[in-house]
Amino acid sequence: MSTPNQLTVLILGSGGREHAMAHRVQQSLLCSRLLVTPGNGGMPGEHFRVAVDDVPGIVSLCQEEKVDLVLVGPEVALAAGVVDALSTIGVKAFGPTKQLAEIESSKVYSRELAAQLGIPGPRFASFDKGAHQLAMAWWKQLDAPIVVKQSGLAGGKGVVVPDNAAETEAAIFDACAVGQVVLEEMLEGPECSLMALCDGVTAVPLPIAQDHKRIGEGDLGANTGGMGAYAPVSVPYALDELSATFIQPVIDHFARLGTPYKGVLYAGLMLTKEGPRLLEYNCRFGDPEAQVLLSLISTDLVEIALACVSGTLESVRVQTKPISAVAVVMTAAQYPLTPHIGDQILGVDDAGLYTNIFHGGTQKENGILVTSAGRVVTVVGVGPDLSTARRHAYARVDGISFAGSYYRRDIAWRAPATSLTSYSSAGVNIDEGNRTVELLKESVATTSNDNVLRGIGSFGGALNVSFLKEFEEPVLVASTDGVGTKVELAARTGRVRGTGMDIVNHCINDVLVQGARPLFFLDYLASSHINAEMVAEVVSGMSEACAAGDCVLLGGETAEMPGVYAPGAFDIAGTLVGVVDKKDLLPRPGIVKGDLLIGIASNGPHTNGYSLLRKILEWLPLDVAPPPLTRPLIDALLEPHRSYLNILTPILKDPRLKALVHITGGGLVENLPRVFPEGISAAVDISSWPKPPLFEFVESLVSLGVDELYRTLNMGIGMVLVVAPENAQHIQSLIAEETWVIGVLDTQGPGSPQVVLR
Ligand code: AMP
Ligand code: GLY
Repeated sequence: MSTPNQLTVLILGSGGREHAMAHRVQQSLLCSRLLVTPGNGGMPGEHFRVAVDDVPGIVSLCQEEKVDLVLVGPEVALAAGVVDALSTIGVKAFGPTKQLAEIESSKVYSRELAAQLGIPGPRFASFDKGAHQLAMAWWKQLDAPIVVKQSGLAGGKGVVVPDNAAETEAAIFDACAVGQVVLEEMLEGPECSLMALCDGVTAVPLPIAQDHKRIGEGDLGANTGGMGAYAPVSVPYALDELSATFIQPVIDHFARLGTPYKGVLYAGLMLTKEGPRLLEYNCRFGDPEAQVLLSLISTDLVEIALACVSGTLESVRVQTKPISAVAVVMTAAQYPLTPHIGDQILGVDDAGLYTNIFHGGTQKENGILVTSAGRVVTVVGVGPDLSTARRHAYARVDGISFAGSYYRRDIAWRAPATSLTSYSSAGVNIDEGNRTVELLKESVATTSNDNVLRGIGSFGGALNVSFLKEFEEPVLVASTDGVGTKVELAARTGRVRGTGMDIVNHCINDVLVQGARPLFFLDYLASSHINAEMVAEVVSGMSEACAAGDCVLLGGETAEMPGVYAPGAFDIAGTLVGVVDKKDLLPRPGIVKGDLLIGIASNGPHTNGYSLLRKILEWLPLDVAPPPLTRPLIDALLEPHRSYLNILTPILKDPRLKALVHITGGGLVENLPRVFPEGISAAVDISSWPKPPLFEFVESLVSLGVDELYRTLNMGIGMVLVVAPENAQHIQSLIAEETWVIGVLDTQGPGSPQVVLR
């Protein structure tokens, strides 16, 4: 034998699992020479052509090449007795003997052993070849769905999970024609793979992995050798507990018999509602699970294998990195039925920083890499968490191509669900939602009156409107709106109350310009995350504005939407319904050339133009007050939208008021024409009212044309009245604050704009 750090190591096999093993052995400081047989087009090391189950061939290869250690990949080699033959010639071989490999190669044996050792599993019965009548009788008497398994090795194709009685019967018939059969009660639940390194006495469990056996996404379609895997899987059981239940009893059993089990023992588990249950034992690393597990283990694989063979595993600290790994298998066209081979493979040369590419069904033909079997290559991505590992894997998959290539896009799809234990772990906190309702009840109550039959907390608000009988012809006027990206500034600075006033007042003004007074308001608040105090604060702003407008806050909705809204962000919207007698509906007819426009001040940008404002002022700290501002920028920006209801109440029914225009998004330019009859235009004198400091400041900063600015911001005018010139003074005198004549109506010339700014 060579000196300890000069070992010649042989790997038996040709799949992704064996490539992953070879990759780790190649990194080992204990190995100076790596051999593989039969290998594939991507495995490192010296390649030989001896088949894995050619026991004499492998014995001579080991003798000729002075092999010190053999790592056996596939079960067929173990079942053929490779380990037994090698140990008689003094070559260390990692894996169980032929007799112990029966735990996989005979399902009858493994089920009976598990039952004998009291290992939890499904009810089952085994039958000899040809005994299909007995098998049918057992199934009938069980009176439950079953799974039909050929006892012997069938390369993953010996198990039928029937969908119905006819399929069950056919499967029993077919399986009994082949050989011994095991029938098992069909269990339900997610599956996982528990693998342990064993030295005959000690078993060291590796992180739980999950295979994806079906060909189709969402786990549909035919069984395959495995379409992908990930680890670690979060399961509601401790790893040691699972090992104590499913692995250690087997190891102890064989130790008692004096035939120690060495190598990997693999327990396929189903996590049923009643607890974990054994589906099968395998006597080797699972594939593709090994490809992810070997990416997580940081301990030298050669050191581990030597310790397993020599019974010294206890002295080795098998360490796994605190990261995740995801394997995505790329298969050939027509896999798993009749995989197409011989197609050139491109894009596998550079593994990538956070990925490994393991070959399974590739070979070199005249220097060109081509497909040679169904599972062509596997990309294993690693990362600090599962989603990063997954992203790395899929990003690398995109760079690989061959004719008819296929892979599942859903590897690890069950993981997000299993790591959730409550709705709140998905980011939605029902308790916080309930606390919110408690907090806002009080402020909402201030808007209530005797007509409210059902308010906040009901499925729907209910309002008694018998008072509408007093109206000649009551007309309902409704408006729904939002407050735009002003909410972003509010969220950023934590000053959210004003946005509640904004939404209500915006809606009040919208129904007001049709002559209507508000009746009730319904709000909607959505955020990435509900914070009861924050929501209550917004709603208290709404309540204050509602109360001031004699409007009932009749109901609302709070939605917690992580992943839809950015962290910390929120949005609000609302619907307001008002009422007006039809005879008082605005605008009134008779808007003509010569009528005057009377402007009433806004008290800020109200709810419009914030996307522009936020951009212009992006790098200015919000607490500064550069001239001509007389207060901190943020105060000017967050000043709530004012309501014009109370100030306009004295003139609302005055027939001399022809129209009201709420200056919202689109500014004077877009909003004025909304009340103009055909053929009427307006000339607005933009020097006729004093510009508030914020608008002056913005105007001094931008190079936008005047029209563009006045199309985006209200520029200091939030409401406009249309009156005949002879009534202007009288109407102005009825308004309890300063107003300005800001323009005059004219006929619209052909092709000329409806609003001309001067
Ligand atoms: P096996 O090779 O015995 O693990 O079976 C292959 C696949 O068949 C398993 O991964 C399961 O998806 C399914 N299967 C096996 N046994 C059962 C069972 N008793 N109940 C439900 N599904 C099973
Ligand atoms: N991945 C399942 C197996 O290797 O048997």
